[in-house]
Amino acid sequence: MQYIQEFKIITLGDSGVGKTSIIKRYCDKKFNDNNQSTIGINFPYKEMNVDKKNKKIKIKLKLIDTCGQEKYKSLSKAYYRNADAVLFIFSMNETDTLDTINGWMESFKDNNNKAEEILKYLVGTKNDLEIKVNQSLIDEFSQKNNLKFISTSAKKNNNIDELFEEIGKKLYSKLGEKGDFNQKNFKINEIKETKKRNGCCNINMAEAKAFK
Ligand code: GTP
Repeated sequence: MQYIQEFKIITLGDSGVGKTSIIKRYCDKKFNDNNQSTIGINFPYKEMNVDKKNKKIKIKLKLIDTCGQEKYKSLSKAYYRNADAVLFIFSMNETDTLDTINGWMESFKDNNNKAEEILKYLVGTKNDLEIKVNQSLIDEFSQKNNLKFISTSAKKNNNIDELFEEIGKKLYSKLGEKGDFNQKNFKINEIKETKKRNGCCNINMAEAKAFK
């Protein structure tokens, strides 16, 4: 039987670092040079297949695309607590954006009581531009905070699919270890999709409430 397993992945980082762009690249296979800042929060999702002992399992990655602007921070915080994985995102082209990751991590910790256990990544974006953040600083920061670092470019489509596929597989195997696999399973035809485009869907705000 084919199942869908859902996981929620939240992206956090300053406005303009490229959160929406990595999600758009992964979901829609598109990049926009003049992306508008996210208003509030978006919830695109994408399905992927994982293999388990010759059985194909379909999992669904729900991507919580937050806005880095101060005025939307309190809205986004409501979505921190049910995240299965968090991506702390900075731009490799702007040093300040790594400095502020400490604040994003603190805020996440304050609003997710499993923050120590959940899967955490440090994602460097825009590696197609001049790299201004020193690699030794990044290594030190990621080791100190137990974050896995990945360098990406949404523009050049570098390491984007790899990032999300690795996360999907890790989340799936982590769930198996915990033994609550069956509890979260549900049949594929029970999923209510509202809008589909290129294999990636946006969910509506009513469904979004279930995220919290
Ligand atoms: P907020 O919604 O305001 O929080 O911003 P965001 O973090 O979602 O940033 P967004 O994805 O909207 O990207 C901001 C700008 O950076 C846009 O003009 C993008 O085109 C640009 N950008 C994003 N990723 C890349 C990249 O990999 N390379 C280059 N050169 N530009 C990028």
